[in-house]
Amino acid sequence: MTATHDGTAATDDDLRRWVRVAGRAPSAHNTQPWAVRVTDGRIEVAVVPDRVLCAGDPSFRDLLLSLGAWVESAAVAAAADGRGLAVEPTPALDRLEDLPVRGAADPTLPVLVLRPVAEPYATPFTPQDVRDRRVHRGELAPAPDLRVDAPALPAGLRLLQVDDAAMSRLVRLGTAWTASRRAVAAELVRWLRLSPAHPRYARDGMTDRMLLMPSWAARLAAPVTRRPALHDAALRLAVLVGRWVEAVDRARPLPPPPAPGAPVRGPQHLVLVARTPTVHSATETLDARLGLAPADVVEAGRALQRTWLHAHRAGLAVAPHSEVVDSPHAVGALRRRLGLRRSQVALAVFSVGRPTTPSPRSPRLTDGVTKG
Ligand SMILES: Cc1cc2nc3c(=O)[nH]c(=O)nc-3n(C[C@H](O)[C@H](O)[C@H](O)COP(=O)(O)O)c2cc1C
Repeated sequence: MTATHDGTAATDDDLRRWVRVAGRAPSAHNTQPWAVRVTDGRIEVAVVPDRVLCAGDPSFRDLLLSLGAWVESAAVAAAADGRGLAVEPTPALDRLEDLPVRGAADPTLPVLVLRPVAEPYATPFTPQDVRDRRVHRGELAPAPDLRVDAPALPAGLRLLQVDDAAMSRLVRLGTAWTASRRAVAAELVRWLRLSPAHPRYARDGMTDRMLLMPSWAARLAAPVTRRPALHDAALRLAVLVGRWVEAVDRARPLPPPPAPGAPVRGPQHLVLVARTPTVHSATETLDARLGLAPADVVEAGRALQRTWLHAHRAGLAVAPHSEVVDSPHAVGALRRRLGLRRSQVALAVFSVGRPTTPSPRSPRLTDGVTKG
């Protein structure tokens, strides 16, 4: 137990409560790749190999960002109790390559250890914000008057804006890349839950409701996720169409940028960019596939979650577009558009705007867990 400024101590039950709030953190494909245990006054976070996107996230970028979003959410929960959380990355965070390809988490190898501290975490956000925030995949109306970069970003991170016309093309190029890489597309299909009959519909992955699919489309597509023959035929078709779109779009330059001062069309499109390296240890950074120390990417995930919570507070929602940073063609075009230097890494791309329809809630493994 840890004594705090008000003389009381954070109990393991308090920590479990914070963990339940953090369970609502966002993660790529809603994989929820964390396995968390509360023990002796600390929170240990391990990675679940079965929940790591081997094909779609080979650099562990999305895994580390998701862990960061989880940590930020836990810190918000701790702050509501007037406490802080000291975050300590373990050596296992620098050795994600050593994770097995399949299986459960190894609880003896946490990647992060969080300990309650007396100094309360300063945040404007509440556990209710963490619970209510959600991404929106429908129409986003423009909200040009809102500054989504208001929460100060840590040194080395920047949010840059990309124009609507370029973004449409980059998203198409990225989607074509995802569709045309069979292993990436198959992995995405594995995390789709298009019918309530899916055994994991209320647990994880992306449901037809979250994707705002009309019920006829979900009924038509659901068997593709369950029946091997349909699944294989759909993936073959996706590869063909994806390759064709990619070939056409790669050959065309991006549309010209808008004139300075031109009115904003569509939602804002933002790119979280990190500068390499904010060296903790030179070997650590050089070894990492992203060219960034994993702990720095976790910090970037915390900042990303703060930005998304800030948007939520302002009545906005975000639509992430990781396909733009996954596709070498799309990210190359994005880098040229933004004039990024070699030392800068685009970590996340997302649109922000005012949702014009309700955003359905996504499932979580921790939903329905009321105690312990
Ligand atoms: C690092 C990261 C990358 C993501 N990339 C995408 C993406 O490319 N496309 C998408 O639709 N959602 C993306 N998401 C959103 C997740 O799918 C979403 O957080 C998850 O399904 C849970 O839904 P919720 O955030 O509404 O609770 C991403 C989330 C994170 C944290």
